[in-house]
Amino acid sequence: MKVTYYGHSCFGIETTKTKILFDPFISPNPLASHIDVNSIEADYILISHGHEYHIADAEAIAKRTDATVVANFKVVGWLGNKGVENGHPMNTGGKWKFNFGQVQLVAAVHSSSMPDGSYGGSANGFVVKIDGKTLYFAGDTALFLDMKLIGESNTIDFAFLPIGSNFTMDVEDACRAAKFVNTTQVIGMHYDTFPYVKIDHSEAHRAAATNSLDLHLIPVGESIEI
Ligand code: NI
Repeated sequence: MKVTYYGHSCFGIETTKTKILFDPFISPNPLASHIDVNSIEADYILISHGHEYHIADAEAIAKRTDATVVANFKVVGWLGNKGVENGHPMNTGGKWKFNFGQVQLVAAVHSSSMPDGSYGGSANGFVVKIDGKTLYFAGDTALFLDMKLIGESNTIDFAFLPIGSNFTMDVEDACRAAKFVNTTQVIGMHYDTFPYVKIDHSEAHRAAATNSLDLHLIPVGESIEI
């Protein structure tokens, strides 16, 4: 399957059958100014929490594509009030089988409110089983010991982990998170978008190599096959 990075924590996952978009924040992101948000297709939009940097383009993309929004109840309801018709609400720990595979909404240690300040429910991550692979999208989170449960319950092929520090884990904690979920393949997110989360890429790669991890920092707008 193909993984495309659209900047910050926004990724597109594409199999022969399904297109999934995580945390759409593209049009306000200067690092993604070369991406035409109207060209992005999605069957499902998975949103980890209500912060602007994860939801900014969700309404427009969901309305244009008729994608189903998968998120916690508050996020789905907030978008529903804006006219997004297809929503699938979940809560932490729950699993659901979609036509492409299974999604589990898992815990994240972070805050969540909607862009207008209304209550956003909990902040979450996702474990997605699709096309024979299991992906862990951590969302915005600190390192927490219960990540080990995710590794015990799943064989994680790729972990999408925040590495920008200040608001989330840094790369050192992300390396520990990768060990907690028992994967060697890390796709970095939540870095470089604004000054608080700027990172040194070579230092990040060094930290990953020291921990025998492959850290993928995908240039914005580019794709990798996994
Ligand atoms: Ni956040």
